[in-house]
Amino acid sequence: MVRIAVVGASGRMGRCLIKAAFEAEQAELTVAVSRPGSDSVGRDAGELAGIGNLGVSVSDNIASALDQFDVLIDFTRPEPSLQYMEICRLAGKQMVIGTTGYSEEQKSNIQRLAESIPLVFAPNMSVGVNLSLKLLQMAAQVMGEYTDIEVIEAHHRHKVDAPSGTALRMGEVVAETLGRDLSECAIYGREGDTGERDRNTIGFSTIRAGDIVGEHTVMFADQGERVEITHKATSRMTFANGAVRAATWLDGKAPGCYDMQDVLDLK
Ligand SMILES: NC(=O)c1ccc[n+]([C@@H]2O[C@H](COP(=O)([O-])OP(=O)(O)OC[C@H]3O[C@@H](n4cnc5c(N)ncnc54)[C@H](OP(=O)(O)O)[C@@H]3O)[C@@H](O)[C@H]2O)c1
Repeated sequence: MVRIAVVGASGRMGRCLIKAAFEAEQAELTVAVSRPGSDSVGRDAGELAGIGNLGVSVSDNIASALDQFDVLIDFTRPEPSLQYMEICRLAGKQMVIGTTGYSEEQKSNIQRLAESIPLVFAPNMSVGVNLSLKLLQMAAQVMGEYTDIEVIEAHHRHKVDAPSGTALRMGEVVAETLGRDLSECAIYGREGDTGERDRNTIGFSTIRAGDIVGEHTVMFADQGERVEITHKATSRMTFANGAVRAATWLDGKAPGCYDMQDVLDLK
């Protein structure tokens, strides 16, 4: 049985992760952590997640619970997430990182950290999105050189980073397949006198509205036809279940930075 610690326990994903860890057959929730001063500190994690008492009290100090978990699951914000990573590195704990919005420098730090501990780092933990990444490779191979490629994503009004980590990963997969560097060919939004579209660019459009859980479309558009690969998430539990699956998969793995394609054996 893999013992799981959830940080950011009172967040939208934190609550789903508590439920997913409780429901998983090969995992158990043993630690739940919120920020010092958070209303959730001292409450029962199960009560917080709306699934009844689990007997796990939400704490505000991960350092005092290091002997109580095997894998830490982090869906928070880049800054606290990097602090949790340092704690896991020093304690030799495995991690599943679902947080998005890291800078390139922060992503390099995560790669360095993975030299010491095994971790799964993926901007989207759903099975469907990771299958879509595979389909995108195929579409890019067949149509990418001669079509206009656009990534459109929509999320709820509370999301704080844009484009979504998933949209960026989709763009990266397409760019890598075509031998392009996304940092050089991405266009983030358009306004005013833009001129004609450059075929070699990959465009990103962002919608933030209401309670949309997460929708992504990648369009390969030619004259006369276009292919669209779309994924729609309707419940955050799909990400939480993927993260718990990643946590159980990590058991016994060598240090390294893995992603959901590894977990799902899609490589
Ligand atoms: N990889 C995926 O599949 C996937 C899917 C969905 C979302 N995400 C990402 O997961 C992250 C969280 O999303 P969410 O919708 O759950 O956000 P959220 O509801 O705002 O929750 C984030 C939680 O992080 C904790 N937190 C925030 N700032 C902190 C700080 N300075 N120090 C310590 N803890 C802090 C807080 O938890 P406490 O109050 O309990 O401390 C907060 O509730 C985002 O980056 C989002 O893009 C990833």
